[in-house]
Amino acid sequence: MIESKIVDPYVESYIKELIPNEEGLLAALELYAHEHLVPIVQPEIAQYLKVFTKLVKPKSVLEIGTAIGYSGALFATTMQKGTIDTIELKEEMYVKAQETFSELKELVPEVTVNQYLGSAEDVLPTIEKKFDMIFIDASKGHYKAFFDLCYPLLNDGGVVISDNVLYKGMIATNLYVVRRKITIVKRMRQYLTFLSTHPELDTTVLPMGDGLAISIKKGGQA
Ligand SMILES: C[S@@+](CC[C@H](N)C(=O)[O-])C[C@H]1O[C@@H](n2cnc3c(N)ncnc32)[C@H](O)[C@@H]1O
Repeated sequence: MIESKIVDPYVESYIKELIPNEEGLLAALELYAHEHLVPIVQPEIAQYLKVFTKLVKPKSVLEIGTAIGYSGALFATTMQKGTIDTIELKEEMYVKAQETFSELKELVPEVTVNQYLGSAEDVLPTIEKKFDMIFIDASKGHYKAFFDLCYPLLNDGGVVISDNVLYKGMIATNLYVVRRKITIVKRMRQYLTFLSTHPELDTTVLPMGDGLAISIKKGGQA
């Protein structure tokens, strides 16, 4: 296990031990991700997203960064009903995620998944619907650009979840910053300040996994 610079390793491993093992499709995707070194949400983030999705009960989710469709499948199996629109830059990931979502259709027939192949910067301006929940989990240096493009697609009272915002401990202190990541670090710090001071948002940053920011758009019922 890579040492966490965000949570005490003993707390992290204790929390991980408490998480029940996934079965079926999600377990198979975890194994695939492990064997093929595909980055997917960490187990404690997956568990949090599951609980959070049950609380928020979104009918529509937009995801930036599909990879093999693990988090998409997690949202779908938790929601049981609704739509997921998910964007992926790399064709090989997009194709693997197609397999995932066709298997998923058998498990949760009332969830419709719309996949987009391309960069979120190009795809987002073409999407005309609105969403209850947006999950940003793609290239970390571009979160602000992703946010600017997807925020107009967020319903009032909707939620934006941004993953990896404490990026290996580098965001909260210069102590862990490595030179070649300086631009990402600067941009992520600006992004977190932007979210935290945005007049239409209430934001909380959670020190779990690689750091998670949850931002709720004021208005609506939230
Ligand atoms: C951390 S992975 C996503 C993991 C996935 N959300 C999960 O937990 O199962 C990030 C993905 O974002 C994709 N990506 C990176 N930059 C992107 C962009 N500009 N637009 C769309 N996808 C992008 C990468 O190819 C990669 O597959």
